[in-house]
Amino acid sequence: MAVATDQVTLQVDGVSVTVPKGTLILDAAKKLGIDIPIFCSHPKMEPVAVCRMCLIEVEKMPKLQPACAIPVAEGMVVRTLTDKVKQYQQGVLEFLLINHPLDCPICDKGGECPLQDQTFQYGPGASRYDFQKAHFDKAVPLSDKIVLDRERCILCWRCTRFTEEISGERELALIKRGVHTIIGTFNDEPAQSVYQGNWTEICPVGALTSRQYRFISRPWDLDRTPSVCPGCAMGCNIQIDSRHNKIGRFQSRENLEVDDGWLCDQGRYSFPYFQRDQEFGSPSIRRDGQLAAVSYPEAVAEAAARLQRAGSSAAGWASPGATNEELFLFQRLFRETLKSPHLDHRQQGIHETDPEDIGLPIADIERCDHVVVLGGQEVIDAAPVLHLRLHKSQRHGVAVHRVDEVKAGLAAVPAEATVVGVLATAARRADAITLQNQLVSKVKGRVRRLIVVRGPNGRGAKDLGILPHLGPGYAVLNGRAGRPRAEWPKAGIRALYIYDASPLQEFGATEAELDWLRSLDTVIVQRFKPSVLDEYAHVILPGRAFPEKDGTVTSMEGRVQRIANGIDAAHVWDDWRILQAVANAMGAGLPYRTSESIFADLAKAVPAYAAAALAQGRVLWGER
Ligand code: SF4
Ligand code: SF4
Ligand code: FES
Repeated sequence: MAVATDQVTLQVDGVSVTVPKGTLILDAAKKLGIDIPIFCSHPKMEPVAVCRMCLIEVEKMPKLQPACAIPVAEGMVVRTLTDKVKQYQQGVLEFLLINHPLDCPICDKGGECPLQDQTFQYGPGASRYDFQKAHFDKAVPLSDKIVLDRERCILCWRCTRFTEEISGERELALIKRGVHTIIGTFNDEPAQSVYQGNWTEICPVGALTSRQYRFISRPWDLDRTPSVCPGCAMGCNIQIDSRHNKIGRFQSRENLEVDDGWLCDQGRYSFPYFQRDQEFGSPSIRRDGQLAAVSYPEAVAEAAARLQRAGSSAAGWASPGATNEELFLFQRLFRETLKSPHLDHRQQGIHETDPEDIGLPIADIERCDHVVVLGGQEVIDAAPVLHLRLHKSQRHGVAVHRVDEVKAGLAAVPAEATVVGVLATAARRADAITLQNQLVSKVKGRVRRLIVVRGPNGRGAKDLGILPHLGPGYAVLNGRAGRPRAEWPKAGIRALYIYDASPLQEFGATEAELDWLRSLDTVIVQRFKPSVLDEYAHVILPGRAFPEKDGTVTSMEGRVQRIANGIDAAHVWDDWRILQAVANAMGAGLPYRTSESIFADLAKAVPAYAAAALAQGRVLWGER
């Protein structure tokens, strides 16, 4: 008697393959390295089989079948290379190209366009169509970010399905019927979605393009550098595409555990902030009230002399956009060299922190049965790609409750829940813990929380002790705690070092704080771009932008990921080099020559980071 199994064995082009039941023919063929051309199919969306590009022969089926929509069956015999298949592939491409404009030489997708590539590989080679092509609107602005060329659209429905299945916003739709069918928004209103850049990435032709990237570069002229998005603490993986040492665009780089292959527009379109499109000034020292340009060594010596005079009454604010290596040196400069405990990376308010804040990994949201989003939209605004994970989870049966109050969150989760998650921003961390504790008493299963911190390395700043009351690795300071940023104006601070690594995560000073800055003996500003703080600075130390740095950052779930310099800014000192030079001018004797060598010492000081960085995995604080 045959044994029932979850596996199915079939033949594709004469080769036998065994795959799980329910696998699509397309994926079974892929497992064998057999390429079946597609347009409408997308691995993250339900099959719709509208483009017919993937038609193949299946023995005992009278007509050709779409490989992207038909699941495998035991004993199935599939042929992808027959004359009949080739004839249909040529036919489908011929139909798709009947009304397609001859835009390739000026189309932004040229060089990375599946329609171009597949026409070359599977197409007929020449057109038999002598009539006038149908014309549609070109370069229609769908929003301030996206342009739609309706002539180039092949109606594959990928973009409309994205807005329905992936983001749940249903912003794009097929409008009209038959040959008049077009893609558009409701009433032609500008698209509002914050995920529009993904539409351009999944469009298999040049119909949807980014306004920022229009006519900027051909893909073969781009230098590509894998890195991490500087937009928020989510840690989405990106590729920095640059040309002539200027950023052309940020593209997604799939990490299933983090971003699932998507980016939000806030992160994707943030790169003009980091563009070095003009000179951002040399190191400077204030003399007789005026800033004077000096060399790096002169500015470093001046900064060190001023800090040394202030000693333990110096305070340091470092941006949550700085790398782990830079933050590690920054806290050494303060704690070891200046013997000052006054460190912080936060804006206003005192948000406590501990490793339990990363108890729920991002990918595990899908494995919960209930997730409470405490604060609703404010959580999504703080890490927009989180919404896509929540929407995906919801589609697969997870109950997602968006609530404003602890009471509502508690009421929403039934006692029989087995795996529960709580999400909140750092500002509502205390409420999240209250809710978590109440849920632990109510439900029979496990309850974990994930706190969305601020800045692409907000988590690293906490882990490495850029806090007045905790050292690296959350070490308790035993009576040696400093004062938090909000208290500095009244704490007798005489010198302030503002390490403002990212213009997106800047030291946002209130009017009262600006008055206080004016009263200080010393203000040192280490920054990438000129900022409002330059006006208050006694020493300015120009550093690098996020896409110009090498190092690691830690996402809100505690994942240590590598960033790499996609832009060469060799004439500007590395930020860690500036920090080391300032410390060494006071006798610290720091020996580092690369960011990797700093990380080696960091991992000794905080052992939980050693394994995490090696695997680009999460920091597991159980090892503390
Ligand atoms: S705009 Fe692009 S993604 Fe949308 S239906 Fe047309 S070809 Fe497909
Ligand atoms: S969610 Fe955050 S990290 Fe991800 S793309 Fe958006 S801004 Fe960048
Ligand atoms: S890819 Fe199969 S029908 Fe479009």
